[in-house]
Amino acid sequence: MSIRRVVSFLLPVCVMLTVSAQVTAEQKEKVAKPSEFPCLSYTAPCGKIGVRPVVKKMPQDLSLGDPERGKQIAFKRKKGNCLACHRMNGGSQSGTRGPDLSRYGSSGRTAAEIYAMVYDNRWQFPDTVMPPFGTNEVLTDREIRDVAAFLRASR
Ligand code: HEC
Repeated sequence: MSIRRVVSFLLPVCVMLTVSAQVTAEQKEKVAKPSEFPCLSYTAPCGKIGVRPVVKKMPQDLSLGDPERGKQIAFKRKKGNCLACHRMNGGSQSGTRGPDLSRYGSSGRTAAEIYAMVYDNRWQFPDTVMPPFGTNEVLTDREIRDVAAFLRASR
């Protein structure tokens, strides 16, 4: 067999193999892993990252922040955006996906519990649509203290 014949036989085979390998790679990419959902982050691209593991953070020594600042953070679209799902004191056009929090200060929840729920509520509700604000670094420790103070002051 001449070299030419060998090459003319092998070349199409190589091309076919490369193309089919690419197709399977593309198909694989389209099959999303269940761990990639739900996409709970405001900042990370959906479907491109895995969900961060649940963190239950309930600091017992909690000094609450400033309720007025907490209100601003809660209402700001690019911060808490809590009004998308919750009714809150002083807020308007709220969504109803989450429970009404406008009298949440009378709920009997401790500051540490409120902190833990805003930080990452998945320890209570594994399938929650509420973003884990602390775990996903949407809000800082200080900001969550402020938001918790606002909720405690809502009566
Ligand atoms: C995408 C919707 C959504 C957003 C945004 C959201 N939440 Fe929630 N939240 C929920 C839902 C739904 C629940 C009820 C628990 C569940 O079923 O997941 C909840 C529960 C809570 C609870 C617990 C109430 C209780 O005692 O059981 C607190 C506190 C809370 N949210 C505070 C906040 C704060 C503060 C923000 C903004 C920083 C916020 N949420 C943003 C959907 C949301």
